[in-house]
Order: sequence, then C-alpha cells, then structure tokens
Amino acid sequence: MHDWDPALYQRFESERTRPAVELLARVSHPAPRHIVDLGCGNGNSTQLLLERFPQSQLIGLDNSEAMLASARKRLPGVPFVQADIADWAPTVAPDLIFANASLQWVAGHAGLFARLMRCLAPGGVLAVQMPDNLDQPSHQLMRELASQSAWRDLLAHAADQRAALLSVEAYYDLLAPMACRVDIWHTAYRHVMPSVQAIVEWLESTGLKPFLDPLSAVLRDAYLQAYTQRIGEAYTERADGHRLFAFPRLFIVAQRAP
Ligand SMILES: C[S@@+](CC[C@H](N)C(=O)[O-])C[C@H]1O[C@@H](n2cnc3c(N)ncnc32)[C@H](O)[C@@H]1O
Repeated sequence: MHDWDPALYQRFESERTRPAVELLARVSHPAPRHIVDLGCGNGNSTQLLLERFPQSQLIGLDNSEAMLASARKRLPGVPFVQADIADWAPTVAPDLIFANASLQWVAGHAGLFARLMRCLAPGGVLAVQMPDNLDQPSHQLMRELASQSAWRDLLAHAADQRAALLSVEAYYDLLAPMACRVDIWHTAYRHVMPSVQAIVEWLESTGLKPFLDPLSAVLRDAYLQAYTQRIGEAYTERADGHRLFAFPRLFIVAQRAP
C-alpha cells in the first residue's frame, strides 16, 4: 500500500476519535507507568492517552512515515517510533497497550493477541478497538467492483490487506485464560454524513486505500465514480438530505492477572 494521508485521515477526526474515547473510558488501570499506542496514526489517540495519564511514559508506534510526522508535529514531547506491530516487542513491559483502529491491518490475530497479552506487565491492560465492517455495503461494494474485469487483475489481492476478525467468542476464549478481566462489546455507529461524497472521502483514507493504491489515475477515477454511485444507492438520503453511514466496531479490554 502507499503511505497514509494524514490530512485526509484528519478530515473526520472527531468521528474517528470517538471510539478511542469510548475505549479509553473502559480502561480502569489507576496509574500505568508505561503506555504504548500501537498504530498511533497522526497522534489523535496518543493525545487522549496523554491527557488521561499525563504522568506516564507514553510512546506512539506506527509504520507510516507520514502519520508519524503528523503525530510528532501534534505532540512534540512524545516519542514516536517507526515499527511494524507484526514483529514489535517492547523493551519495557507496558502497563497499557492501546490499539485503536490499527490491529485490523495486522494478520494472524490468534498469535498477535496472545503475544500482546504476554508483553504486558502483571496487571497490565490490552485495549483494542477494530472496525467490524467487512460485511457492510461500504466494503462489500469495494470487493464487488474489484471483481469486475476493468479492475480484477490489479485488485486481485486488495481485499487481503485487512485481517478478517475472529468471532467475539474466539477473542474471549483466547484472552480469558490469560486475563483476570475481559470486557468485550460492539457498537454500531450511524454517522450522519452530509453527502455521498463525504462517505467516499472517509473511506478513501482507510478502507478504500488497498483498492485505490494499485490503480492508475484513469482506472482510479473510473473505480471511484462507479463506487460513489453504488454508495449513493446503498446509503439512501434521509428526509433532511443527510446519509446515515453505518459503522460497526468491536471493542476489547483485557487485563492481565496481577
Ligand atoms: C486507522 S489509523 C488509526 C490511528 C489512530 N490510532 C486513531 O485512533 O485514529 C491506523 C494506523 O495503523 C497503522 N498501521 C497499520 N498497520 C500497521 C502495522 N503493521 N504496524 C504499525 N502500524 C500500522 C497505520 O499506519 C495507521 O496510522
């Protein structure tokens, strides 16, 4: 994939940060000494962590140069490191690993979640939020268009970039033996969007990236035009002209036994 675009990502920042706020609200650790924000992006989730735990040693980690540059500008006092979550190991056991909207980009969840739990200090907390939207029209339509002849060859592997989530029960069964507390919930947001274009713009900086990055400008424009039309049909206009963009998300907070 091409690098992320922090400016495009920031366009819907308050909607994107809301799940991070709701995830953090369920973290009950009184005073984590070491915190890692995995897949910190442009630092919006890191800023929440800094505000809640100003005394902690906090680091942000991401593999996107562009996102890290934006995060460093936002929070100059916080160390941000470039690394891949897939093979990251902490030098000091964290008391809180926070991963808002990042682990869906990393494959092998059974191994990954077990490894993150083992990385925690005793009593430490793993707090994760992931979009659970692969079956939503927004994502079904991406795949449906990618299977059409105009784009099929270039987009053969586009859908593989996102990790399919395990079932809720599988996450629970995996985490419960390693934890003294597991809190799992789903929220289906209905974002009130001003236009079809706004829904497409939202997705362009995240879920659509693997489908747009491999395309030439001409093919990209044609794909976006067809996609925008289908999104308009799937997310119909309400009486006031707005569109409700359904966005289910899965939240997990697991605390390692002290
Ligand atoms: C949707 S953004 C989430 C940013 C932020 N945590 C938030 O709450 O809005 C996902 C971030 O995960 C990062 N990411 C994806 N895969 C990664 C990996 N394997 N290792 C490190 N970071 C990764 C991306 O670069 C991107 O900045």
